[in-house]
Amino acid sequence: MGTRHYGLATYLARFTERDMVMKKIFLAVVAIGTLSLFPGTAEAAVMGPSMQKLTWHFYKVYNTCENAENFVRHQVEILYKNDTTIAPKLLRLLYSDCFVTGCDASVLLEGPNSERNAPQNRGLGAFVIIDKIKKVLEQRCPGVVSCADILNLAARDAVHLAGAPSYPVFTGRRDGLTSDKQTVDLPSPSISWDASMAYFKSRGLNVLDMATLLGKPSPTMNKTFLSEMANKCPPRTKKGQTDPLVYLNPDSGSNHSFTSSFYTRVLANKSVLEVDQQLLYNEDTKQISEEFSASFEDFRKSFALSMSKMGSINVLTKNEGEIRRDCRRRN
Ligand SMILES: *[C@@H]1O[C@H](CO)[C@@H](O)[C@H](O)[C@H]1NC(C)=O
Ligand SMILES: *[C@@H]1O[C@H](CO)[C@@H](O)[C@H](O)[C@H]1NC(C)=O
Ligand SMILES: *[C@@H]1O[C@H](CO)[C@@H](O)[C@H](O)[C@H]1NC(C)=O
Ligand SMILES: *[C@@H]1O[C@H](CO)[C@@H](O)[C@H](O)[C@H]1NC(C)=O
Repeated sequence: MGTRHYGLATYLARFTERDMVMKKIFLAVVAIGTLSLFPGTAEAAVMGPSMQKLTWHFYKVYNTCENAENFVRHQVEILYKNDTTIAPKLLRLLYSDCFVTGCDASVLLEGPNSERNAPQNRGLGAFVIIDKIKKVLEQRCPGVVSCADILNLAARDAVHLAGAPSYPVFTGRRDGLTSDKQTVDLPSPSISWDASMAYFKSRGLNVLDMATLLGKPSPTMNKTFLSEMANKCPPRTKKGQTDPLVYLNPDSGSNHSFTSSFYTRVLANKSVLEVDQQLLYNEDTKQISEEFSASFEDFRKSFALSMSKMGSINVLTKNEGEIRRDCRRRN
């Protein structure tokens, strides 16, 4: 492939975008990392920042819970059948965990000063889903399977059911002992392209782009679309009227399926958030958007790779942390 270098591919689990936009255009958008494909070092690109610390099929290899991954998958299948929104919810929860102090399930801990109470994490769901899966694991293999691994496996399996490719989730993570909302430094929607990039880099990823944000319309946004959205999201709700739920990306519909239509919309100036539309302001990200818009397969591959990498950010292993019995509390 020559010496082509993706400075960054920003792609997202943009199917989380249909999560919600309220009157305040409060919404959840997840943009996930990227990859750098240096010729001859594909291996290194696949290995995440600290993936070497993890093990392929950890619970089977160490004979602690041979079917752990099957148990998770089975529960996710049951839960997904009832509610397909678990896919974007789990994905966003995973992102919120991994980008803040690493993939240590710290976002699951309860407490007034915990990460989950930080303003950036408002609207996070899926805690109950993790509890349900954990309960089953505790029945089958008590005290063995970490909440951090469950979150990673469950997100992978749910997103796969939504149409994303499956990807390897190495296991053996342990759960963190602390959670502090002061550590939640998820970027705001008005973050600049350069700052976004620096944020991902600081986490050992080649790019970063991501947020739990407050949206503002992009100056280049298609005017027809802008007024459609404005109509759906009145500045003020009438008495008794509930905040309308609006999909940021009407193309992907309400079925929460995994598509690359996000990129097509960026190219058509139909992103709602400035941070998304900024993909066109940089030559690298513009090219990548065009590529992903044209080839769903390219997007799928990059997605799988970056998810693997994200799941290995600053993991705890061996005698670090603990295996929580209840994901919401330290033992
Ligand atoms: C099914 O999903 C709904 C939300 O869509 C949730 O309120 C309910 O608890 C779920 N039921 C089960 C059995 O998981
Ligand atoms: C904006 O979107 C509308 C509706 O999708 C479309 O008809 C129109 O051509 C778009 N305008 C521009 C400038 O692309
Ligand atoms: C989900 O919605 C999209 C866009 O409306 C559509 O293209 C796709 O076929 C749907 N998928 C399923 C599984 O219904
Ligand atoms: C999107 O906006 C940019 C900047 O205003 C403009 O150059 C470009 O032609 C627009 N693209 C479409 C498809 O409307």
